[in-house]
Amino acid sequence: MKKTILITGWTGYIGSHWVVAFEQAWYKTVIVDNLVNSSLKSLDWIEKILWYKPDFYNVDLRTSLQPSPLEERGQVEKINYIDWKEVKWNFSLEEVFKKYGFDWVIHFAWLKAVWESCEKPLEYFDNNIVWTIKLFEVMEKFWVKNIIFSSSATVYDSRVYEDKNFSWAVETDLTWNTTNPYGTTKFITEQILRDLSSFSGFRVANLRYFNPIWAHESWVIWEDPAWIPNNLLPYIMKVATWELEKLKVFWWDYPTIDWTWVRDYIDVVDLIEGHLKSYEKITSPQPSPLGEREQGQFEVYNLWVGRGISVLEMVEVARKVTWKEISYEIVERRSWDLAEVYCNPNKAKKELNWEAKISLEDSLKNSWKFYNK
Ligand SMILES: NC(=O)c1ccc[n+]([C@@H]2O[C@H](COP(=O)([O-])OP(=O)(O)OC[C@H]3O[C@@H](n4cnc5c(N)ncnc54)[C@H](O)[C@@H]3O)[C@@H](O)[C@H]2O)c1
Repeated sequence: MKKTILITGWTGYIGSHWVVAFEQAWYKTVIVDNLVNSSLKSLDWIEKILWYKPDFYNVDLRTSLQPSPLEERGQVEKINYIDWKEVKWNFSLEEVFKKYGFDWVIHFAWLKAVWESCEKPLEYFDNNIVWTIKLFEVMEKFWVKNIIFSSSATVYDSRVYEDKNFSWAVETDLTWNTTNPYGTTKFITEQILRDLSSFSGFRVANLRYFNPIWAHESWVIWEDPAWIPNNLLPYIMKVATWELEKLKVFWWDYPTIDWTWVRDYIDVVDLIEGHLKSYEKITSPQPSPLGEREQGQFEVYNLWVGRGISVLEMVEVARKVTWKEISYEIVERRSWDLAEVYCNPNKAKKELNWEAKISLEDSLKNSWKFYNK
């Protein structure tokens, strides 16, 4: 029998890739999203790949017991893409759990813009922490205790990145002293999940990554934010297509190769494979010294390429791939940005037999195929 997986935040960039990967790997996926940062267009994209639409519920985690109508939340314009009847409106999370016997939850539903979290920290704490706890309560109530949590490199203590004696963050490094409220929401949720694994039998794959790029190989799902992008690659692509005039490069006085910040960019297809492998690891039978008693588990993995790329290096690769001029301007630096952020992926290599394989050039070439259409 097919295993059934609940995916929260599925219509987002990463979640929609996940649905495709899981459905193609013969799992049944049930998906919930409140569409705050995504649209039902993803359902159409997914149907083009799978030839059917997965079960989608318009659930807001913040209204897990009593959902508010979509109209009240100003979302009505987003439903033009598909037939109303295909979406299950006005369900609560509990009702969705009652309807399906889930084996697993993948939790993507999150507010994720670092800059916005600095402007509205309480909204981020509410959406990302308070209502995630509600999700865990419903999971516990229905005895669904397996979860992949989509964490982030922002949980590492900023001193880990700043201290030059540490070249890469490893999973055992200090997580504390985050630089922004988004990172704090990930950090706190990690701690909650760690305790739930120790005291409530949750089995958790806690995956830390950053900067996923590119799109599904079928070329119908890609990161295409309707507004000014938060991430570097879509921004660069929009400059290459003249949708945006110039890339904003935050003040280049970072102590790096060319004075611009350095990040690690992972192809989303590699990332999905890392999720699938961590899923297999957590669900493989574990020896239980306590006999029948349920064993909790909390496994942390950095899913990274392990290669730092500066903003100007990325601009150069994009120039070569697109044959377009990528204009940029220097603007004031933001207080929360660190000079270099990259992590060591060796634990995932060793324990999951996983490593990123797709080159940056290939990711950008594929990305460009979309944006250049
Ligand atoms: N993209 C990245 O750079 C990156 C890096 C590391 C971790 N992550 C994490 O991966 C996950 C997915 O990221 P993404 O890039 O796909 O983001 P995204 O914004 O595209 O997707 C998140 C989805 O969650 C939904 N959502 C938010 N709050 C909700 C709520 N209360 N109830 C129901 N749905 C809600 C949004 O509508 C959106 O569809 C997030 O948890 C993010 O923090 C992303």
